[in-house]
Amino acid sequence: MHRDIQEVLFTEEQIAQRVQEMGAQITQDYGHVFDDTGKGIVLISVLRGAAIFMADLARQIELPVEMDYMAISSYGNGAKSSGVVRILKDLSSEIEDRHVIIAEDILDSGLTLKYLMKNLSSRHPASIEVVTLLRKKTLQQADIRCKYIGFECPDEFIVGYGLDYAEMYRNLPYIGVLKKEIY
Ligand code: PRP
Repeated sequence: MHRDIQEVLFTEEQIAQRVQEMGAQITQDYGHVFDDTGKGIVLISVLRGAAIFMADLARQIELPVEMDYMAISSYGNGAKSSGVVRILKDLSSEIEDRHVIIAEDILDSGLTLKYLMKNLSSRHPASIEVVTLLRKKTLQQADIRCKYIGFECPDEFIVGYGLDYAEMYRNLPYIGVLKKEIY
């Protein structure tokens, strides 16, 4: 275990197992999409943290999927709580009439997803759902309809498997609580 980590919450094996289960569920739920219309799935993640989760999840979905990425930034510190964000990199694909699945690493305040759902819905996809690896147990969380949730996690400073502190620790293969003296 990394010396800055206080406790491992989810091991590499536990994450792999859960990602496999979520991929299987999505495969089952979206199988009909290809029989009916051939419109296909677009998996979308928001850089940078969610890219690791989406890369693993995509490989557990046994259907054709397209992968696309957005980069967004909040207007300063206070703005994250207002949910006002700016698009730094937009999707490369059109999503009209496509089945969109937003893959997130963590749902915390929910403001990122609230913004994304609104923004992407306005492009008229055939459907839109959210898959998140983690949902933080926080008191104030926007009401997000999240179809697939990997794990509930405590309201701690967690890092690893895409989650960072000052851009560090994203490459830890597990998810753990960062020691308080580090931040
Ligand atoms: C994290 C995470 C989610 C968002 C969740 O991204 O990847 O996108 O925060 O928080 P919320 O529910 O409170 O909106 P972050 O802004 O830290 O950027 P990163 O992906 O580059 O780490």
